[in-house]
Amino acid sequence: MTDHDNQGTRPAARSDGTLTNRQGHAVSDNQSQRTVGSRGPATLENYQFLEKISHFDRERIPERVVHARGFVCYGEFEATGMIGDEPASTYTRAKLFQEKGKKTPLAIRFSTVIGGRDSSETARDPRGFAVKFYTEDGNWDLVGNNLAVFFIRDAIKFPDVIHSLKPDPVTFRQEPNRIFDFMSQTPEAMHMLTHLFSPRGIPASYRHMEGFGVNTYKMVNAAGDPVLVKYHFHPRQGVACLTGEEAAKVQGQDLGSASKDLFTAIEMGNFPQWDMFVQVMDDHDHPELDWDPLDDTKIWPEDDFPLRHVGTMTLNRNVQDFFNENEQIAMGTGVLVDGLDFSDDKMLVGRTFSYSDTQRHRVGTNYLQLPVNQPKGAAVATNQSGGQMSFYRDSAPGQNPSVNYEPSIHDGLREAPRQPSTSPEITGRLTRSVIERRNDYVQARARYCTMMDWERDDLVKTMGELLAQCEADVQKRMVWHFLMVHDDYGTRVGAAIGVSVADVRGMAPLDGQVLTDEDQRRLQKLG
Ligand code: HEM
Repeated sequence: MTDHDNQGTRPAARSDGTLTNRQGHAVSDNQSQRTVGSRGPATLENYQFLEKISHFDRERIPERVVHARGFVCYGEFEATGMIGDEPASTYTRAKLFQEKGKKTPLAIRFSTVIGGRDSSETARDPRGFAVKFYTEDGNWDLVGNNLAVFFIRDAIKFPDVIHSLKPDPVTFRQEPNRIFDFMSQTPEAMHMLTHLFSPRGIPASYRHMEGFGVNTYKMVNAAGDPVLVKYHFHPRQGVACLTGEEAAKVQGQDLGSASKDLFTAIEMGNFPQWDMFVQVMDDHDHPELDWDPLDDTKIWPEDDFPLRHVGTMTLNRNVQDFFNENEQIAMGTGVLVDGLDFSDDKMLVGRTFSYSDTQRHRVGTNYLQLPVNQPKGAAVATNQSGGQMSFYRDSAPGQNPSVNYEPSIHDGLREAPRQPSTSPEITGRLTRSVIERRNDYVQARARYCTMMDWERDDLVKTMGELLAQCEADVQKRMVWHFLMVHDDYGTRVGAAIGVSVADVRGMAPLDGQVLTDEDQRRLQKLG
């Protein structure tokens, strides 16, 4: 036996196909437990049976608190070497973007958000679009969604928005009244709701949807200069969605239609592809805009901030084991590589704590030692050891095994050289406050206006069906918000549920709600 035998390689599989237990003991009877006589009683030293049944008892780990149902596959990202018309190095020193044709392996997990692990994949729900790039500088996780914006802009509200969307803790049913009770008090959600209840709210499959990073990140070049960026993926297969009726039919036959579609396409060699783009903005607060670049309830208009092509993603390999690769994969917004950075987006900082926190709880302290989570092209050398299910020491070759601390004059690990960075100077009073440029209705209005007639019809119908199940005060407040977005939107949703403009006339804005000049004008018009 060599040292290496205890350092995390899997024991050699028996070549003759004989069933064993995990101690390497051959199992000669897998049909009957040990009993006194053929009719029992059973004996307690039934090691083989107890090992088998107690492992089975622990087969499940907690499902993800959100995005529980999902599906993983693998592929690669091929860079153009450019960010639009300029060399990638103008904006970032991240190695995966630098050379034309450079390929980086990746894993991607698509998911629904609210349902449990066995729930329907045709629910009206955002879809997760989470990519783990195994770069030579370590892993980069881009944990995005298929819709470009989100319901809220401060991470402290995330448990509330999710509680409202999850089943009622008493009845365990998803209740429209709970959802819209929360949403009606959350004006910044109107933009996301307008997307989610439009036909875009039920993607036809995972292959036919866009992906967005949603939050604002940064890229940093070799001189340390940062820019703000947003990430986009466009499917070469096109975008396709289901109406509510179509989705109900699919769901009646198969709860897992999207996973099946993806798995089958890849098995047949029909590899789906996405073009990846970024939008770029100078790294400051842009007072010229009437929205805040760090607000994830807003898109960056593409006329002003054009999409710049950076590469193509191709998915070409399926998982071998759903549990190991799908349930145990762990991605988070803190997982960035040199040349990519966070912005001060208040959702992003909250998310960055939440992901690795839940993964330590859900998968375990040593979740990063699991094959699907390990970096592939980069070395790992830490001074961490111990913890439940520790699999090996991730020390460097030649490292003195006693020196699991730093600094040391012996053969321990050393810090990497520092990279240039222009860190922002931040001054301000410690506070709890909402960002100033909220403008909660303007982009929902733009979205409503650019929809085709049939999309608006579908939006009004779907919204009406759910609001019809809500109490009168919730209905009125939602119609009031939609009227603040657009006359036609509010009037039509109101008509669908029997709430007229007269019914909401005179309603005051919510406590603390800040209205723009345009909002004030619309409020006065409402009377
Ligand atoms: C999964 C928290 C906002 C996309 C999760 C998980 C948590 C979480 C705890 C489960 C992770 C796991 O068990 O591995 C939060 C918090 C948010 C937030 C606190 C806001 C403050 C968002 C937003 C997006 C998003 C805005 C879209 C850009 C995802 C995706 C997954 C996920 C795609 C599934 C990752 C996977 O497939 O493993 N989130 N989330 N989340 N979240 Fe968020």
